[in-house]
Amino acid sequence: MPEQPFGSDQPDRLRLAVQKKGRLADDTFDLLKKCGLTMSQSKNRLYARVEQLPIDILLVRDDDIPALVAGGASDLGIVGGNVFEEERAAGRLGDNVPMVVPLGFSKCRLCIALPKETIYSAPKDMAGMRIATSYPALTEAWLNENGVEGARTVVMNGAHEIAPRLGVADAVCDIVSTGGTLDANGLAVAETIYRSEALFIGGPLDGRKAEIAEALRLRIEGVQRSADAKYVMLNAPRDAVDAIAAVLPAADQPTILELAGQSDKVAVHTVCREEVVWEQLEKLRKLGASAILVLDIDKMLA
Ligand code: PRP
Ligand code: ZN
Repeated sequence: MPEQPFGSDQPDRLRLAVQKKGRLADDTFDLLKKCGLTMSQSKNRLYARVEQLPIDILLVRDDDIPALVAGGASDLGIVGGNVFEEERAAGRLGDNVPMVVPLGFSKCRLCIALPKETIYSAPKDMAGMRIATSYPALTEAWLNENGVEGARTVVMNGAHEIAPRLGVADAVCDIVSTGGTLDANGLAVAETIYRSEALFIGGPLDGRKAEIAEALRLRIEGVQRSADAKYVMLNAPRDAVDAIAAVLPAADQPTILELAGQSDKVAVHTVCREEVVWEQLEKLRKLGASAILVLDIDKMLA
């Protein structure tokens, strides 16, 4: 079959804008894969067609995603909160600010960092500083909110961390994940101005597109729910079941099963919505539980 021109024949296909490559891209493709979606085209094209749902993926630069969604060129997007909030703070989204669902991955911080030898105790110490950043709107909003006088931003699109050494800035405002980049450049965090994670943005939509978006949202929610969730199975004295349930506060109502030939013992099965730690297993054993199994959950649909 010849390749169809993008979007020309099927106006009902939903468009989802994602980062083509970079910080968020791998996590995003991983999420889509866990949602059971595979794409018919390679990543280096401009778009990819999802096979299981009527969705076309737009592969773009992350800082273009908020405006593509706000302007309606894409129905939905997956983008870092840092980028989304910068575009919003800069007033580039107009009145059509899309709805936002946090995704819980690609977490990082937007921080103002200073050369390690700088004496810093409060925001006023930044008075008059030049701050190298690709987040001028968020940085300036923070400087204003904190009454920092005479500070200004110097917009750079990369390599912020060398700006102080080059003498073009006194500080930087940049993404910090492990902190390794700052450390290697003799810088230290003075203030965290925004905590970021990946966001699912877009809508409200209507008609067929709303249905497709809801199907996608439910799959994402299922992946998120199962990320930390565990299936816990154990055998326990019948009269210890309540005490055992109290050790697993994030667990659903347990299923209690008879154990063949043992009237005083039961098998307890439950889904725990959070990570189960060793300390909890040890408490369970003290309460008489045995044959304790904690299993990963692959998918979950409520
Ligand atoms: C970000 C940021 C730092 C680095 C911080 O850059 O600008 O350079 O990550 O991460 P760390 O705290 O784990 O060292 P990114 O990799 O997104 O690329 P970019 O500079 O090209 O935007
Ligand atoms: Zn960088």
